[in-house]
Amino acid sequence: MDFPNTRMRRYRKNSKIRDIVRETKLNKEDLIYPIFVKEDLKDDEKEEISTMPGEFRFSINGAVEYAKTLEAKGLRSIIIFGIPSDSEKDEIASPAYSPTGIVQKTVRKLKAETDLVVITDVCLCEYTSHGHCGILKENEDTDFGYEILNDESLKFLAKTAVSHAEAGADIVAPSDMMDGRVAAIREALDEAGYYNTMIMSYSVKFASSFYAPFREAACSSPSVGNRKSYQMDPANAREAIREAELDVTEGTDFLMVKPALPYLDIIKTVKDEFNLPLVTYNVSGEFSMIMAGIENGYLTEDSIMESLLCIKRAGADLIISNFAPYALDHL
Ligand code: PBG
Ligand code: ZN
Repeated sequence: MDFPNTRMRRYRKNSKIRDIVRETKLNKEDLIYPIFVKEDLKDDEKEEISTMPGEFRFSINGAVEYAKTLEAKGLRSIIIFGIPSDSEKDEIASPAYSPTGIVQKTVRKLKAETDLVVITDVCLCEYTSHGHCGILKENEDTDFGYEILNDESLKFLAKTAVSHAEAGADIVAPSDMMDGRVAAIREALDEAGYYNTMIMSYSVKFASSFYAPFREAACSSPSVGNRKSYQMDPANAREAIREAELDVTEGTDFLMVKPALPYLDIIKTVKDEFNLPLVTYNVSGEFSMIMAGIENGYLTEDSIMESLLCIKRAGADLIISNFAPYALDHL
């Protein structure tokens, strides 16, 4: 046979050819922007997050104004993280389910002033005095002397989800990793009449060191211990399928894998195994790592769009990313 019959480089000859054979395309509607809203900030006050260059904590007004500029560039959805006043935090995360809480107020304003799909992160860690995602109880038979109570936490998570729905959230996104939370939230939403409010469960969430910049941003680091008794062990892939399966059974509308870049194999597995829309969270550490590379001149900005595209190629339908504003400008 003559030397190469098949020449793969024909597909790459120029950008016109490459454009028509490209298998994966990133679209603006694939992007979800995570926004931090802080109770203590007023009007146009904003704080740059020291661990995330170019990202800010906003006041409610500031968040809504910024959301509008992103919407004008083609953003379709946003996920809200609330930062309450320190003085309001307590053992049972009271500001998480207050009707006048920071997330609830932000949702109302976003729904009134934009057409964005409004998603809320449902968790207790930003609202508890101890920074854990659930209710704490002393227990010697644990790594650090405290157990994070599962069933007790469900009540507060369900209450939080209902209060977000009441404020007008389109989708609630529980990120706590308690067992049975999707069922508890679905039941509470339906009982309150919010049968159309969707659930985007953080189904496969690993106990990852890549959340460090976020915890600084959201002031949500646990004051004792770590999250390894509820978030998944980074070593486990088969367990990811069981977690996703349970959430599907309990009635989640979306599945999520988090983080994204070090877990592309998990994204692929979950995508192949289930038929639900799959969300991935390109987390703060992935953002800051690339930003640090760019700021130091080790990487170029091209690494941003490449990594988002590769997350999509692995199987993500939607990508939560602090790079969403950058990507909107480059799509
Ligand atoms: C809260 C929550 C975390 C993230 C999203 N929701 C942090 C954590 O679990 O400690 C991480 C997001 C990011 O790193 O960008 N449960
Ligand atoms: Zn949490």
